[in-house]
Amino acid sequence: MERRATRTISLRLASVRDVPGITSIYNDAVRTTTATFDLEPRSLAAGRRWFRSHGRRHPVLVAVRDGAIVGWASLSPWSDRPAYDRTAEVSVYVEAGSRGLGIGHRLLAELVREGGRRGLHTLIARVADGNAVSLRLHASLGFVPIGVMREVGTKFGRLLDVHLLQRTYPPRSSVRPRRTADPGSGRRD
Ligand SMILES: CC(C)(COP(=O)(O)OP(=O)(O)OC[C@H]1O[C@@H](n2cnc3c(N)ncnc32)[C@H](O)[C@@H]1OP(=O)(O)O)[C@@H](O)C(=O)NCCC(=O)NCCS
Repeated sequence: MERRATRTISLRLASVRDVPGITSIYNDAVRTTTATFDLEPRSLAAGRRWFRSHGRRHPVLVAVRDGAIVGWASLSPWSDRPAYDRTAEVSVYVEAGSRGLGIGHRLLAELVREGGRRGLHTLIARVADGNAVSLRLHASLGFVPIGVMREVGTKFGRLLDVHLLQRTYPPRSSVRPRRTADPGSGRRD
């Protein structure tokens, strides 16, 4: 498909006024895909709460064509445990009629740049088994597979695996492991 088609599309940081467009795309994915393990559509009020839960380190981006939102991407905290502060989870959704045009790639590439600017160290993606487009998209932007969670979700009557991928900045090879005061303590969650 023609990547040129994305030239009329601009990316920008989202505002709360974009929540209806973001929620509409998300809810279509809830109803028709295994990309999200939500099973019920999200209300606008829940969408606004979700949006407002994104702080300085966790941007939400939108892709806009002719004033309409055709895709969005976000960084969300991976965990509320403070040692995970510099790790975030990525989300990326493009409206069904605009997929395959390079919009997801542009959104995720910009999201990765934003994460770097905001001091994040590691990005994590969870991709349901069978979502070959998403796996390819993440791989093309430097995400590497780190494991598979087997049979962790059920949607549309299917028991699903989830692939975990991560991208680290700067490249992992230049990051030295840090010694902690208590290397033996067990829990890491
Ligand atoms: C996954 C998603 C965000 C990708 O966005 P998109 O705009 O459709 O994807 P792009 O056009 O940018 O293409 C991304 C990559 O997938 C490839 N691709 C796109 N559509 C494809 C198709 N139908 N078959 C095979 N490969 C495809 C592209 O060639 C591109 O590869 P590259 O980065 O190596 O060049 C989008 O399809 C979507 O919203 N899907 C439903 C929600 C979802 O799955 N979100 C991800 C949750 S983990």
